[in-house]
Amino acid sequence: MKIAFVTAEITPFAKVGGLADVSAALPAELHRRGHEVRVFAPLYRRARTPDRVFTPVDDLDRVEIKVGPHTLIFGVKTATLPKSSLVVHFIDCPGLYDRDGVYTEDPDEHFRYVALCYAALSACQHLGFSPDIVHANDWQTALLPLILKARLSWDKNRFPNTRSVLTIHNLAHQGVFGAETLADTGLQDSAHLFHQDQLNAGVINYMLTGIMYATAVTTVSPTYAREIQTDLGGGMLAPFLRARRSTVVGILNGISADEWNPETDGDIKKQYSAASLEGKEANKRDLLTQMGLPYSADVPVAGIVSRLTWQKGLELVPGALMPFLAAGRLQLVVLGSGADLYEGQFMELQRRFPKQVSFYRGFSNKLAHMIEAGADLFLMPSRFEPCGLNQMYSLRYGTVPIVRKTGGLADTVQPFNSVTGAGTGFVFDLLSESSLAAAVNRALQVWPHRTAWRRLQLNGMAQDYTWARQVSVYEELYRRALTL
Ligand code: ADP
Ligand code: GLC
Repeated sequence: MKIAFVTAEITPFAKVGGLADVSAALPAELHRRGHEVRVFAPLYRRARTPDRVFTPVDDLDRVEIKVGPHTLIFGVKTATLPKSSLVVHFIDCPGLYDRDGVYTEDPDEHFRYVALCYAALSACQHLGFSPDIVHANDWQTALLPLILKARLSWDKNRFPNTRSVLTIHNLAHQGVFGAETLADTGLQDSAHLFHQDQLNAGVINYMLTGIMYATAVTTVSPTYAREIQTDLGGGMLAPFLRARRSTVVGILNGISADEWNPETDGDIKKQYSAASLEGKEANKRDLLTQMGLPYSADVPVAGIVSRLTWQKGLELVPGALMPFLAAGRLQLVVLGSGADLYEGQFMELQRRFPKQVSFYRGFSNKLAHMIEAGADLFLMPSRFEPCGLNQMYSLRYGTVPIVRKTGGLADTVQPFNSVTGAGTGFVFDLLSESSLAAAVNRALQVWPHRTAWRRLQLNGMAQDYTWARQVSVYEELYRRALTL
């Protein structure tokens, strides 16, 4: 199949969260399977590091198209995804993307991504690439299905039978902008195709528009697919998702088998596998040294790697862990940045327990790998979690996840049963400090029993959540979309 995959983030060029990992690993796996995949992403300032080469595409160094009142001028440059032969097409438009962050709060934020959609489709035309599937991701590219329908259906040559897929990675971000921006979408002549009540109320919701017009809608885990069809989980979009329930499917994300593999990981002190799990201890020592904490073989280290936002439920952590930290039964290593509230709470926790807690405020891919390899436990108390990747990385690294039973966390971590020895982690249901504390306590009860703990680690390491397994579900979905 021919697939145009359009995304706002792609690792390692520009990553904010899990979308970047999925946008690299899923297309790479489709490519490995012989599909013709073209990935389109913005050429942000941060992607242009001195070690990277972006090659201009012949005849596409200066493309000019009209989008509403704007003349969009862009070039297309390519780079190969590391450890893959997948070629990524970057939309080079400095006026829109040569800025400090990936996402901004600038007044043209909506247009930065409208432009990405038009540029990607226009590049397909110029490249002579006729996609069977245009795959959009999250609100940033959710207007693609409508743009295809309203603006490009005339191009029977290039888009003769093209179907669209929208993947919802996170329904909490919908791309809601004032109706005065309608002209900027280049869809003013198709105003009647937007949700009319919303338009009359003065707003355009990009995600909703995508849900209305995509041939198929996917989200990133089966449980999240169910959750967002309830009013509680899906809010005002729930009725629209329910209305399309036959084409809304939850496909669990995969993980990259190359990027997150303790046997080959170049970012960690000592590589290890299920057969040489003792090697993990060297990584624990290294992590603690790096984070300025003393090492003790008897005290487990819990790790957190996260965007520090409301979604992640991290306000539970200090209260839940306090008794264990005070009793010297646990250490905690945190990597993340985000809202002041959470940064402040982890700084405070570190101040109170300088020998047990260390917080690195910022973004570091290397440290993320070191934590996956060096920690004994991994905490994800998320309020909601469409899929979550770190719990799957943790399983692969023999790092036992403690997760709340929501979204993809519920689908990927099975509660450990110390009688049967089955299960891969510790799961709690209620979003409360005491439920999290109880789950941590269950883990600490098993921890001293080395054989049981080893069993628990090996159970996790035996799980296969790689894209090699999940990719066929997308292939099936694409095939089905072609018949709709
Ligand atoms: P989300 O997409 O909601 O942030 P995921 O679990 O799907 O959650 O993916 C998060 C990804 O971002 C993981 O690969 C994680 O390691 C990475 N990540 C998050 N915060 C940081 C950070 N501060 N430094 C390095 N990697 C981070
Ligand atoms: C989102 C979600 C996360 C998911 C990721 C990749 O950012 O918050 O749960 O794993 O997208 O799909």
